[in-house]
Amino acid sequence: MQRQQQFDDHIDEGGFVEPKDWMPDDYRKTLIRQISQHAHSEIVGMLPEGNWVTRAPTLKRKAILLAKIQDEGGHGLYLYAAAETLGVSRDALVDALHSGKAKYSSIFNYPTLNWADIGTIGWLVDGAAIMNQVPICRCSFAPYARAMIRVCREESFHQRQGYDSLLVMMQKGTPEQKAMVQDAVNRWWWPCLMMFGPPDDQSPNSANGMRWGIKRVSNDTLRQKFIDATKQQADVLGVTLPDAELKWNEARGHHDHGPIDWAEFWRVVGGDGPVNRERLAARIKAWDDGAWVREAAMAHARKQVKTSEQAA
Ligand code: 3HC
Repeated sequence: MQRQQQFDDHIDEGGFVEPKDWMPDDYRKTLIRQISQHAHSEIVGMLPEGNWVTRAPTLKRKAILLAKIQDEGGHGLYLYAAAETLGVSRDALVDALHSGKAKYSSIFNYPTLNWADIGTIGWLVDGAAIMNQVPICRCSFAPYARAMIRVCREESFHQRQGYDSLLVMMQKGTPEQKAMVQDAVNRWWWPCLMMFGPPDDQSPNSANGMRWGIKRVSNDTLRQKFIDATKQQADVLGVTLPDAELKWNEARGHHDHGPIDWAEFWRVVGGDGPVNRERLAARIKAWDDGAWVREAAMAHARKQVKTSEQAA
């Protein structure tokens, strides 16, 4: 009991927890759940964009997209490594993803139909990810917070490059290209609002997350912050956000917005989104195809260990 009280006091004082510190089992389990699903989101998030590397309109855009996808893979690795400090193996985490037991962000279960989708993903998806990830830089679990500091720096580049590519299409593009951007925004806007999670009063994990200093800002507050920031960016871009009820409410100091289709959210989270099956199949195939690389790396590492033992 005393250790629990000391832990609670430490969290209340804004303290951070390192892997070797004592922590309640539920705190550990919540972190493994959230950090591993965050890592899965980064890795699965590489797939929608990967389809467009060979079809980027210029060498510059191809290089930028390659750099972004590579960053996402790195984010996944930082996060799996942070999760492993909690005593869970990488294989167990990957098995949970492949078996459908673990989640990844619903946003990646929507198809990327054309190049405007790639810019829109950068602007809106990575923009939402930044909004959600910046508070995690102050997460009470120190390895997660440390990972987020680097991730957020790179996400800012992801968001800017997406917005820049849309700005080119809107300012220099043909009427058809401008229409492509508006169509992409129409398709991605509402699923991006769902990235922040269910409404606070339907969020089973938020109370504990907030209590333990894992979740510093609520789902709805971050969603509102994202809407308020993005509306201004949309105006500069010259696109309309697909919500007839979106309007500034002076009394609230925020934009009012229309209802979010939570039935769609739970359907997609439950595995019945537009491309859930394709995404998971692609992930499993990539894992299976990469088995030889993992085996070779392990064989090399074992040989290194043997050589250094013989030298000792
Ligand atoms: N997609 C899939 N599942 C979601 C979800 C989403 N957008 N939002 C919530 N859920 C799930 C939760 O995981 C939880 O299910 P679980 O208990 O089985 O894990 C359930 O819905 C209820 O949600 P809660 O709000 O109660 O859960 P949390 O308190 O964990 O809050 C969260 C959800 C806000 C996503 C939180 O987990 C979080 O902040 N996670 C870290 C950030 C993250 O994972 N972001 C995903 C995007 S990463 C990304 O976009 C990559 C970028 O490079 C593009």
